[in-house]
Amino acid sequence: MRVWHIGFWALWVLTPVLADTPTATDATPKGHYVVSSPHHVISFEIDERDGWPTYQILRFGKPVIAPSHLGFILKDAGKFTYDLRVSAANPNAQSVDQTWEQPWGERRYVHDHHAEQTFHLIEKKGMHRSMDLVVRVFDDGVGFRYAFPDQEHLHDVAIADELTEFNIADPATAWWMPWGESHDTELLYGRTPLTELSTAHTPLTLRTKDHVHIEIHEAALVDFAGMYVQRSDEQHLRAHLVPASEGWAARRTAPFQTPWRMVVITDSAAALYESNMELNLNEPNALGDVSWVQPGKFLGIWWEMFHETWTWASGPKHGATTEHAKRYIDFAAAHHFRGLLIEGWNEGWDSNWAGDGSSFSFTRPYPDFDLPAIAAYARQKGVHLIGHHETGGDTSNYEAQMGAGFDLYQSLGIDAVKTGYVADADQIHHQDAAGLKRTEWHDSQYMSNHYLKVVAEAAKRHIMIDSHEPIKDTGLRRTYPNWLSREGSRGQEYNAFGIPVNPPEHETNLVFTRMLGGPMDFTPGVFDLKHIRPCCSVPTTLMKQLALYVVLYSPVTMAADRIEAYAARPDAFRFIEDVPTDWAETRVLNAEVGDYVTIARKDRHSEDWYLGSITDENGRWLSVSLGFLDPGRHYRAEIYRDGPAAHWDTHPYDYVIESREVSATDTLPLRLAPGGGEAIRFVALPIPKRAH
Ligand code: NOJ
Ligand code: CA
Repeated sequence: MRVWHIGFWALWVLTPVLADTPTATDATPKGHYVVSSPHHVISFEIDERDGWPTYQILRFGKPVIAPSHLGFILKDAGKFTYDLRVSAANPNAQSVDQTWEQPWGERRYVHDHHAEQTFHLIEKKGMHRSMDLVVRVFDDGVGFRYAFPDQEHLHDVAIADELTEFNIADPATAWWMPWGESHDTELLYGRTPLTELSTAHTPLTLRTKDHVHIEIHEAALVDFAGMYVQRSDEQHLRAHLVPASEGWAARRTAPFQTPWRMVVITDSAAALYESNMELNLNEPNALGDVSWVQPGKFLGIWWEMFHETWTWASGPKHGATTEHAKRYIDFAAAHHFRGLLIEGWNEGWDSNWAGDGSSFSFTRPYPDFDLPAIAAYARQKGVHLIGHHETGGDTSNYEAQMGAGFDLYQSLGIDAVKTGYVADADQIHHQDAAGLKRTEWHDSQYMSNHYLKVVAEAAKRHIMIDSHEPIKDTGLRRTYPNWLSREGSRGQEYNAFGIPVNPPEHETNLVFTRMLGGPMDFTPGVFDLKHIRPCCSVPTTLMKQLALYVVLYSPVTMAADRIEAYAARPDAFRFIEDVPTDWAETRVLNAEVGDYVTIARKDRHSEDWYLGSITDENGRWLSVSLGFLDPGRHYRAEIYRDGPAAHWDTHPYDYVIESREVSATDTLPLRLAPGGGEAIRFVALPIPKRAH
């Protein structure tokens, strides 16, 4: 289904309010315009306040973003923010109301309903430089981007920093992670009053005293520096651009557009998660037929390395051997997994590779890993190998070999690759055209281009990408549907690293922070919860590990543990075998950021529904209405729940698996243990034939 309905000029969306019109008050600044959302929930206002182009965002007439400035600092060309005339490009805003279909995702159809207007911002004096602000107003927030037309004094544009402000009107609580730390995006999310925030990565999540939920983020980060925010005083936030090694942040030739700055505003955590604004702000699929893009679950020669029983490096404990690979392929085939990831297969792991990466070969396997034979064995068993390209942050070494690496995989029928960039946050290294060694941030303009270059090279060969240590997700999966997933936050692996392990509330934070950006390869499904290494145990119940398959969305999802751990608990493993990774529909049934969340999703390829519910360190008693089920049918609910004594620390294996028949009129109680969870498969039962 593709429903287009663009281009009629709506009456309700734009109200130009000039200072001398009867509707304006004495205080109304010059050049004042209002753009309202389709159902008048959100309005965006812009004017020339004291010479600064200034915007604010209101929800039901109440300011959410108080007056905030716009603009940039240009490298060696001054500020571009003051004494600008604001004018609307069109007499009325344009209304867009369309539904588009995703090749894969949390839901099959996405509704995009918004009002769009463009404003010209032109210097009143001097060089009369101009830029445009393109604004889209949805019922759940606003996206705006700057567009630089080509002009005499702005052709080769070097931007030193951005001056966009987000002044939060009401006192708010923030869930945030500082920008600029060496662990980059792999820190725990903190929860503080907004007045204690320093710098923050986006998505940044806020909740005001009136329970208004706000996400500040960006969409369509292409050929530009990533944006982070810094608090200047009180509740005043300002955008900053990640600097490049050359002394600017972003350099472009006009005409060009920046990524969208987006502010999602809802009255619940559930609605914040359900927003489609980020995807709607991205461009449609640029790859054409993507039927070769196939979501699915995978196993890995991987978690043994975290147990330190196997190694990435060669030697007596080498994990990526032909023998291990065949054993994992057999298990994957027997349990109907699409994929098998094998890390440590290629030369380069024996040196101190993290933050270096110069020794990695992307075509030469270790001698005990017979890649062609393993690929043939996997093919014969119907298992798809997932290739692995760890770069250690050396993008020049990788780019020099990337084509050959993808060619090799393509020749062997390997159609998915996990990439990796293990290096401190500002230590991605490359040689520029002049042979100069440079270091960059993972979210710099250079890297925004690098990650997309990898995705494009992979797409040419019909290969899917799952990036680790990625740039943040800004919804580019819509445009490049082979960019399936990424890590980009503290994944399950930290439950093996320690420093410390992820606390029980971690995943309830992730859903409303990191995951607002898009899918995360979290690697759920660890069954051996205790003492992965002497330091570390997983602080969840076993049932919470199952619930994560529904709660933490990723089209490619790992069953992260060793196959022996699954063979030992076939009853619980059954849920992982059954759960799909591609959905027709998604509903958040209840949620509080950082405390608990229950999500129901409908399988894209059957009539079955799945539910996952997780809690933080506190046990909870929730009840959910099953009204999301098809009212015309009955379902067998296969319930995987915490037992009466379950507790993440003392009794993680106390669980109950039971079945009962349910329908849409039922309400189900959920008893979640401290650090616990519940997973349910609703199997649609055949509709009984009517008697004649
Ligand atoms: C970090 C990734 O998160 C992990 O999954 C991977 O195994 C290592 N890098 C090595 O590439
Ligand atoms: Ca909590």
